Amino acid sequence: MADIRLEGVGHSYDGGRTWAVKPTTWTWRGSRAYALLGPSGCGKTTLLNIISGLITPTEGRVFFDDRDVTGVPTAGRNIAQVFQFPVLYEEMSVYDNLAFPLRNRKVPKQEVDRRVREVSRLLGLDQVLGRRSRRLDAGRQQIVSLGRGLVRSQVAAVLLDEPLTVVDPALKWTLRSKLKEIHRDTGHTLVYVTHDQTEALTFADEVVVLNEGAIVQAGEPSELFLSPSHEFVGHFIGSPGMNMLPAEIAGDVVRVGREEVGTVREPLPPGPVRIGVRPEFVRITPAGASPGVTARVTGIDRMGAYDLVHATASEHRLIAKTEAGCSYRPDAVEFLHFPADRTFLFRDQVRCGSLAPLNGRGQA
Ligand SMILES: Nc1ncnc2c1ncn2[C@@H]1O[C@H](COP(=O)(O)OP(=O)(O)O)[C@@H](O)[C@H]1O
Ligand SMILES: [Mg+2]
Repeated sequence: MADIRLEGVGHSYDGGRTWAVKPTTWTWRGSRAYALLGPSGCGKTTLLNIISGLITPTEGRVFFDDRDVTGVPTAGRNIAQVFQFPVLYEEMSVYDNLAFPLRNRKVPKQEVDRRVREVSRLLGLDQVLGRRSRRLDAGRQQIVSLGRGLVRSQVAAVLLDEPLTVVDPALKWTLRSKLKEIHRDTGHTLVYVTHDQTEALTFADEVVVLNEGAIVQAGEPSELFLSPSHEFVGHFIGSPGMNMLPAEIAGDVVRVGREEVGTVREPLPPGPVRIGVRPEFVRITPAGASPGVTARVTGIDRMGAYDLVHATASEHRLIAKTEAGCSYRPDAVEFLHFPADRTFLFRDQVRCGSLAPLNGRGQA
C-alpha cells in the first residue's frame, strides 16, 4: 500500500521521436482507488506497465514510497496486475489458480485457504472452485484472473488494465461494486484503467484523465463534471459532452457573435476565447430575460428520461438538456442562457477563467 511517485516519467517507443507517455510527475497515494481514464491509444497501458515494471521508462524515476524502483523488475515490486484478457493456468482448477500467487510466496496453507474462499465468495466463484479453468467461458475466466489479482492482501498496489472488457455487461456492474467492496476491506492502492467514463466515475475515489500521453486533470467525478480544467475533460466526460463555442473578450465583456453572454470573472487579455458550458446547464429562456444567445432549434432527441435540444447560435452547434416532453420545435428561434457559475473560458484547450454575470441587466 505504497505511495507510488512518478518523477518526470516519460516513455517513447521510437527512440524519442514521439512520446506514448509525455514526461509526467504524479503521485498515486496509498490506499486510494484510482481510475485512469482516456481514449484508446492515449498511453494508459504504457503508464500502467511503467508502474508494474514491465516497461522501464525512457525518462524519469519511479518511487514506491522512498524506494527508487526504476530499474527493479516486476517480480521485485510486489505488484498484482490484471490484464485485459484472462491469464490463467488452464489445466489447474479455479481454486489452484486463485491459490497460486499465495503459495508462490510461501503463505501458510490455512491462510491460503482463507483468502481463496474469501475472494471466491466475493466474486461468486464458489460453485466453480473445483472446475478446471479451461472449462469456463471467457467472462468467468476473467473473473478468476481478477481474483488472482486480488487474493494477496500485502501488495504495494493492484493494477487493472481494462479488466472487464470480456465480461458480460450485466455482470460488470456487480463486479465493479465487488471491487469497491474488496478495496474497502483491503485498502490496496488501486489503479483501474478504462476508456469508459461510466466505469471510471462509478468506481474511483479519484479519476485521472489521460489524453495524448499527458494527465490533463485529476479529481473526484463531480469535480471533472462540474469544473473541467481542460477542453478534453469537458467533451470526454458527460454525455453528450460540454458545448464549446468560439467567443471574444472585449474589455471585460464576453461575446458570442454580437451577443453579450457575461463578463470575465478575472481580468483576461482581450481576443478570441472558447466558452464551455455543459448541456445540463444551458437554459432556454424568453429573449431578453437574461444575457445569452439567440439560437435556432435544429432538432430534438427524445431520450425518454430527458430531451436533448440541438440548436445553432452564430452557426455553432450546441445542445441543451431539458425535461422529457419539451415543446420546442425545429426551426423555432429560442434564447439560450449560460449560467455564469457553470460556464468556463478556455484558451489553447486549457481553462483560463470563468464567466461572471453581466452587471445591470436582467440576471438569472
Ligand atoms: N510495444 C509498442 N511498440 C510501439 N508502439 C507502441 C507499443 N505499445 C503501445 N504503443 C503506442 O503507444 C501509444 C500508447 O499506447 P497504449 O499505452 O497501449 O495506449 P492505451 O492503453 O491508452 O490504448 C499508442 O500510440 C500505441 O500505438
Ligand atoms: Mg491499453
